[in-house]
This record gives sequence, structure tokens and C-alpha cells, in this order.
Amino acid sequence: MAEPFYRANVLVCGGTGCTRSESLEVMAGMTKEIARRGLTNEVRIVQTGCRGFWRDGTGYDDLPGGTFYCQVQPEMSRQSSKRHWSRGESSGA
Ligand code: FES
Repeated sequence: MAEPFYRANVLVCGGTGCTRSESLEVMAGMTKEIARRGLTNEVRIVQTGCRGFWRDGTGYDDLPGGTFYCQVQPEMSRQSSKRHWSRGESSGA
């Protein structure tokens, strides 16, 4: 079976430094908000390893736009979902 096509892939760091900065809570919040908006088949959350930005807090990329965010807090998950993915485009489009 072919992999579904996601119009946005959100890469969230799951490395040790970022999990200390609540990256798992950020991912959970984004996943919940994406589901609430009915975007589960369009937007995918991908947990990555350390990407070298741990001093800046939890970071994530929104692809294909390519925008990188850092110092993301769990309470920002809903705001990000509303701003970027519910308009039918990723943040950089
Ligand atoms: S632990 Fe997240 S960038 Fe390194």
C-alpha cells in the first residue's frame, strides 16, 4: 500500500534536550489539534532526533514551507495549527 501524501510534514525534535523542554507535549498538542481540525490525513507530525538546536528549546520545521521554529511551548500548538494548517497551506506557502 502506498504511503499517503501529506501536504505538510511537521518535524519536531524528540532529542533529549528538547524533550526536557516539553517537545513531547508540543507533539501531543499538535497531534490533538490536527485531529480536532480533521487534518489527520493531510498533516503529519514526525519525531526527529537531535538536530543541534537544543539550547533554543523545542524546535520544529513545517515542510514544505521550510520554516523553522524554536522555543516552542506546548500552549503554542493550537495557535500554530490554526495559523498554518487550517488555511489549506503550510506556513511557508
Ligand atoms: S535535542 Fe532537540 S535539537 Fe537537540
